Amino acid sequence: MNGKVRFAVLGAGGRGAFMAKLYGEHPDVELLAMSDPNPKTFESEKNRTDIKNYISVRKYVNSLEMFEKEKGKIDWVLVASPDFTHHEMIIAALKNGYNVFTEKPMCLSIKDADDICRIAAETGKQVVVGCELRFAAPVVKFKEILSSGAIGKILHGYCVDSVSRGFTYFLRYYRWKKYSLGLLMQKGVHSIDLINFFVDAEPVRVYADGGLDYFGQEKTKAGKYCRDCSEKDICEYSAVKRDVVLREKGELCQDHCVFGSDTDVEDNDILIINYSNGVRLSYNEINFAPEYKREFHFVGTEGRASLVMDQTPELKEQRASNANLSGKAVSITVVKRNHPPEDIALDMPVGGGGHWGGDERMRDELIKAILSGKKIKPDECDGRMSTAIVFAANESMEKQMPVLIEKGR
Ligand SMILES: NC(=O)c1ccc[n+]([C@@H]2O[C@H](COP(=O)([O-])OP(=O)(O)OC[C@H]3O[C@@H](n4cnc5c(N)ncnc54)[C@H](O)[C@@H]3O)[C@@H](O)[C@H]2O)c1
Repeated sequence: MNGKVRFAVLGAGGRGAFMAKLYGEHPDVELLAMSDPNPKTFESEKNRTDIKNYISVRKYVNSLEMFEKEKGKIDWVLVASPDFTHHEMIIAALKNGYNVFTEKPMCLSIKDADDICRIAAETGKQVVVGCELRFAAPVVKFKEILSSGAIGKILHGYCVDSVSRGFTYFLRYYRWKKYSLGLLMQKGVHSIDLINFFVDAEPVRVYADGGLDYFGQEKTKAGKYCRDCSEKDICEYSAVKRDVVLREKGELCQDHCVFGSDTDVEDNDILIINYSNGVRLSYNEINFAPEYKREFHFVGTEGRASLVMDQTPELKEQRASNANLSGKAVSITVVKRNHPPEDIALDMPVGGGGHWGGDERMRDELIKAILSGKKIKPDECDGRMSTAIVFAANESMEKQMPVLIEKGR
C-alpha cells in the first residue's frame, strides 16, 4: 500500500475516543471518519482537544450509512462500539469492503465467530482483534522464553486474574449477559487470549464453575442508581466519586448499584481448559480481589515459567519510575528442575500508553504490517478461540458438565 492508511472509528465512547486519538496521531494514519448513534458523544470537548483534526473528521450517527458513503475512501474500520454490536458491525464492514480492527471480544457466540471467519474468507478482507496485551513488553518476553524451550514441552498451566476493579463492570451494562455474556467475555477474554497465545494450540474442552458471590447481593439499601443513593459519597464503589460524566438513566448508563440484585453475570469463575496439544490448564477470574494482577504459570517437562503483571494502583509509581520494570510490578521467573529459580529481567522498554505499552506497540506493528502487505495476529481465528472458550464455559456452568469445542475452519 502506498501513502497513509485511512481509518474510520465506530463508537466515540471511552475506548473509541482513546483509539481515535492513538491511531490519529500515528504519522502514517489518516483518521477520516467516526460514527456513533449518540450525537452527543461528538460534542465532547475532550475529543476536540485530544483527537487530531477532529473538526474535519466526518461524523455519522449511523455506521451502516458511513460504510455506504465512505466506500473506497477508507481502508480500515476500527470497531469500538459495545460488545453486543460487534458481530453485526464487523460483518457489515467486511461485506462493504473494509478491513476490520475490532475491539475485544470479537463477538459473543461461537456461531457469530464462525460467521465472521467465513465472511472474512469470502471477502478476502482482514480482521484483527484488539487484544493488545500480546504486544506488552512483559508478554513478548514471556512468550520468547516459552518458545525457546526453556521449560521443555508445556504440560500444565495455572492462570489467575485478580480484578480489583471488577466493580466497574457492575456499574455498567456489562452486568447483564444479554449485553456482555458476562465478565469472562468482557474482562477475562484478555487473559484467555494470552493463554491461547502461550499454549499455542486449539482449545478442545472446557469445564467451568462460577457464580455471583460478592456483587449483586443487594447488601445495601442503595437505590438502583448511585446518583440517587444516600451512600453515594461513602460507598467505595460509587460511580459518583469517579471521574465519569454520568449518562442519562437507563440500562446503558454507568451508575447502576453494584449490589443491585438485577444483575445476572458471575463475579467468581474457575475454568479448566484442555488443549489439542495435551496441555491442561486452569483459569480463575476473581472480580472482587484486593489486587489488580494477572498471573500465568506454566509447567513443562524441564521446569516452570511464571509471569506476574501487577497493576494494583499502589504500584503505579514504581512502574513509572522503573524503566525496565524488573522490580515489583512485573516478575518473570524460570525454575529448572534441580536449579535455583532465575529472575528474568525485562530487557525492553515498556513504552507509553495503556496496557503496558501494548496499545501503542500493537498500533505500530499493525500499521507497519499494512504498509508492507503483511498480516498480524490476533486475527479472526484467534478471536474465535477466545470467544469459543467463554461461550463453552457459560454452557458448562449451565449444564454442570464439560463442553467440547468444535474446531474452527
Ligand atoms: N482493548 C481494551 O483494552 C479495551 C478497553 C476498553 C474497552 N474495550 C472495548 O471497547 C468497546 C467499547 O467500550 P467502551 O468502554 O468505550 O464502551 P462505551 O459504552 O463507553 O462506548 C461505546 C460507544 O459506542 C456507541 N455505539 C453503540 N452502537 C454503535 C454502533 N453500531 N456503531 C457505532 N457506535 C456505536 C455508543 O453510543 C457509545 O458511545 C467494547 O467492546 C469494549 O470491550 C477494549
